Amino acid sequence: MIHISRSVVGAAELEAMGRVMREDGYLGMGREVRAFEAELQEYLGGQLRTVICLNSGTAALHLAVQALTSPGDEVLVQSLTFVASFQAISAAGAVPVACEVYPDTVTLDLEDAARRITPRTRAVMPVHYASNPGDLEAIYAFAERHGLRVIEDAAHTFGCTYKGRKIGSFGDLACFSFDGLKNITSGEGGAVVTSDPGVIQWVQDARLLGVQRDTEKRYQGARSWEFDVQHQGYRYHLSNLFAAVGRVQLGRFEGEFKPRRIALAQKYRTAFAGTSDLLLLHGDPGPIVPYMFAIKVLNGKRDGLRQFLRERGIESGIHYKPNHLLSFYGGGREALPVTERLYEELLTLPLHPGLKDAEIDSTIAAVMEFLSHAKLRS
Ligand SMILES: Cc1ncc(COP(=O)(O)O)c(C=O)c1O
Repeated sequence: MIHISRSVVGAAELEAMGRVMREDGYLGMGREVRAFEAELQEYLGGQLRTVICLNSGTAALHLAVQALTSPGDEVLVQSLTFVASFQAISAAGAVPVACEVYPDTVTLDLEDAARRITPRTRAVMPVHYASNPGDLEAIYAFAERHGLRVIEDAAHTFGCTYKGRKIGSFGDLACFSFDGLKNITSGEGGAVVTSDPGVIQWVQDARLLGVQRDTEKRYQGARSWEFDVQHQGYRYHLSNLFAAVGRVQLGRFEGEFKPRRIALAQKYRTAFAGTSDLLLLHGDPGPIVPYMFAIKVLNGKRDGLRQFLRERGIESGIHYKPNHLLSFYGGGREALPVTERLYEELLTLPLHPGLKDAEIDSTIAAVMEFLSHAKLRS
């Protein structure tokens, strides 16, 4: 079986977890989390940004939204995203407003989003689909024009750059995911990155049940006994054990994971360029360090190709079922034609740093074989 993705971890991650178990004396949130945050901060350009680690990317998005909105406020977000983006917004008591995407990048369609602005709109959540941040400058200009905050769902874009600057190193708020399949993993995990002091304090407290300034105590190996709580909090902090894995992964990213992901995506793009019935998404590997590789299969051939691959032991995926079609978010009450069409066309092919040359070669060969047969039949 050729898997669509998997966690690429080994002896170094195992050793790091063992070190925490042997030497630290505490598996919860403490020194190791502080070190992971400091290393992420350095990676993202230093003192101007603060990194707050959480136990998932969803938790990062949830706290980011809750820090900026009041119950009933609206957040503009593309429907075509993982349900985590929507759940994070509704968990905060805010309302996700489903928007269209541009079909060539699958990033937020700003003209469509503008039509959905109401007096309750507080924020916009662009999702960097398949590691492409789209036109971020246009998103920030849009937000400024309409007085909105920006929460970047950067789950797919760890280590990616926009106009030479790393995602997360600038802008309002960026939320990363370090779940088992992302560009770096800590097992499960995530982070909010921002320069906003109010948000930093709120998120740091909210991840530890709202206990005021518990973060600083835990970093010194202590905890709070006398404390106050002034707002709702959650049990969302990262553990030392997971942070230890994240630190090793961060160390492997530039030299190992990043070049491999870029090379694999480049190989797909070269092989598929100009192929009929198949369209590549816009965006160059390099600035984009692809977390996943999605293509558009046209003329109703997507499901046939998926079946053809399955019969040859090649896994593929559909990212994502649009959220406006889910019962909890309207059950398709409103039509989003571009998104619904993409839902019929998008197909994700295997891509992860452990994917072997022979595996990508057979995936490419199988796709080409299917498309040439399909052409003869049509
Ligand atoms: C676009 C997007 N947003 C948010 C998340 C949530 O991240 P996590 O799985 O770390 O909760 C994911 C995870 O796959 C995602 O793909």
